[in-house]
Amino acid sequence: MVGKVAFVAGGSSGINLGIARGLSAEGAQVVLLSRDETKLQSAATLISSEGGRADWVAADVRDADAVAVALRRSAERQGSFDVVVSGAAGNFLAPANRLSSNGFRTVVDIDLVGTFNVFRHSYPHLRRPGASLVAISAPQAVRPMAEQAHAGAAKAGVNVLVKTLAMEWGREGIRVNAISPGFIADTEGTTRLISTPEARERLLNTIPLGRLGTKDEIADLVLFLVGPKAGYITGTVLDCDGGLILGTR
Ligand code: HXC
Repeated sequence: MVGKVAFVAGGSSGINLGIARGLSAEGAQVVLLSRDETKLQSAATLISSEGGRADWVAADVRDADAVAVALRRSAERQGSFDVVVSGAAGNFLAPANRLSSNGFRTVVDIDLVGTFNVFRHSYPHLRRPGASLVAISAPQAVRPMAEQAHAGAAKAGVNVLVKTLAMEWGREGIRVNAISPGFIADTEGTTRLISTPEARERLLNTIPLGRLGTKDEIADLVLFLVGPKAGYITGTVLDCDGGLILGTR
């Protein structure tokens, strides 16, 4: 990844920060985007302390104009993007009959429209040929989970979006894929979905590998997917979930 530029939306925390650190550790110059300047600053400082080079831009992925400006300014400073990761996400547990239309829309706006905004507005600034785009999906896109109508619907949209963009942009040498992480340790997403030790135990019983995943395991998969060994892979959604999607025995 030496000499490559990687733009990571949602990169100030959680899985996406893990991905940014993984890309940086392999030599990429990373640019982080999220809403929160304080979190961005501390994420960039962390990456610098590890010997990497991290720039950041603050924007809400729901705001297409702000995303377009952030991507244009980043490309002017760092050059064309070799890698774009779109992982900014919002989520909470809520039964559909207690979810407002605005609550549903908020998650769809962040996860699905946000991914469209990031990929659509990165398009003018992508390295051709060679750019690789990775969206972060979730198992509930294909295996419905109760109290996750909003997140499942949004991520199902993400899965189709990456396949469509892979078709449209393939001839330009741009690959578009998604990774579907299951429950990853030490992330806000998992903490929100498993609030008690009993819930954790119940959850582990549904995962064939019997454990949570790690941020490093997701970062390693991104490194593979954006690298030359995955050069013929586009339009896929790769599950990295300990077998969660298979269901229980
Ligand atoms: C019901 C809720 C709610 C909840 C918010 N809403 N939290 N409804 N239950 N727990 C509703 C609000 O009432 C409101 O609707 C609407 O959603 C918007 O809420 P706001 O707080 O105004 O929005 P905002 O400030 O933009 O916050 C967005 C957010 C936020 C999604 C609600 O809380 C957030 O970003 N949370 C955490 C981020 C996160 O967890 N990221 C990791 C995702 S991991 P009304 O009608 O009242 O106006 C992931 C994958 C997990 O997604 C995969 C595991 C396998």
